[in-house]
Amino acid sequence: MEAAIRQLQSLDYVHTSFFTNSAYEQLAQKLTEASRGVFSRALCLSGGSEAVEVALKIARQYFVEKGEVQRSRFITRRQSYHGNTIGALSVGSNVKRRHDFRPLLFDVSTISECNFYRHGLVGESEAQYAMRAARELDAELSKQPPGTVIGFIAETIVGATAGALTPPKGYFQEISRICVKHGVLLILDEIMCGMGRSGKLFAFEWEDVRPDIATCGKALGGGIQPVSAVLLSDKIVDAIQAGSGSLKGGHTFMGHPVGCSVALEALAILTEDGFLEDVIAKGRVLEMKLKQAFSSHPHVGAIRGRGLFWAIELVSDRTTKEPFPADARLNELIKRSAFTRGLLIYPGGGTVDGTVGDHILLAPSATADATELHEIVDRLSLAVDTGLKAANSRIDQWAADRRKKLTR
Ligand SMILES: Cc1ncc(COP(=O)(O)O)c(C=O)c1O
Repeated sequence: MEAAIRQLQSLDYVHTSFFTNSAYEQLAQKLTEASRGVFSRALCLSGGSEAVEVALKIARQYFVEKGEVQRSRFITRRQSYHGNTIGALSVGSNVKRRHDFRPLLFDVSTISECNFYRHGLVGESEAQYAMRAARELDAELSKQPPGTVIGFIAETIVGATAGALTPPKGYFQEISRICVKHGVLLILDEIMCGMGRSGKLFAFEWEDVRPDIATCGKALGGGIQPVSAVLLSDKIVDAIQAGSGSLKGGHTFMGHPVGCSVALEALAILTEDGFLEDVIAKGRVLEMKLKQAFSSHPHVGAIRGRGLFWAIELVSDRTTKEPFPADARLNELIKRSAFTRGLLIYPGGGTVDGTVGDHILLAPSATADATELHEIVDRLSLAVDTGLKAANSRIDQWAADRRKKLTR
């Protein structure tokens, strides 16, 4: 807040076509330094969807600069979300958010999300599954006419659509190897999972990969300013510098000094000694408490996450992993019940395939202490049981109505 006020009092706005500003320059420098050599440039924008749009366009520009103008296709994953603007919605797979806009969206290729709980085979280890899931990308790239694909875009940890879906070890390394093999770009969307949420500044640091392009937002603005960023590796920067020399396309409020000065402050906190270690330690507390509360719960099929980014997936039967009927709207009932208990959660439906399945996403503040984390899970427990009771009574009522109709 103080950083925003200070910035407003010194330089409130300049257009980037005339001027740069020191908050923007410092933020770009700090972000690239924090990536430890993965990225060499950063562009700052106003929101997550805008960052994804810009990332997609820069990926296309990279190939245009190299004379590979026939490249126009992106490959994406099912059960993913990259934002609500047309390009971002096109590369996303969130069925409900896309539904009404499908005629406006461009065509992409889609491979399965990496979900061992749902797609692992009997007798298959998680590591074997990770390779099988990654090789879907290889198969898809081999199917496409040579030289037509721009890149593969994925959320490093899937957020809203599948509920804190963390990648098994080795998955992204294999994905990265496949992208290099086929000469396509790896674009990681870290709008939700990045900036410390996973316990590392960039969630891809857990995976030991070097994306060509990444996006970040949300926590970058300390939760109070609309600011996001697109980070570019040398490979992208060099191609543009050797070609036209400038990015095609700008936005009126890009590099806004107020957003950037708040982001600088937020980044200073995120990279303070011990901050991310603290997120990891608190994440362990949250994980332990979630497991205590839900490991034996008859309707919780999976508990997953990393750092302070966790989810539970609800099922009607733990053995078959059968979800609740979508019409029962279980996740919304839990949200409502949690709200009355003073707990704000991020519920999601369509967890399994875009239509059925329910999950509850938790992303508590890094300032929460152990007592508060326990309190969150205690309240969630009550909310889950209340939501289940309401959903089950809806389901019983439908069954009774059906029986009545049949006996008429
Ligand atoms: C992974 C991911 N990408 C992009 C976006 C879009 O961000 P915004 O809502 O700031 O446009 C979101 C939003 O939740 C997101 O989770």
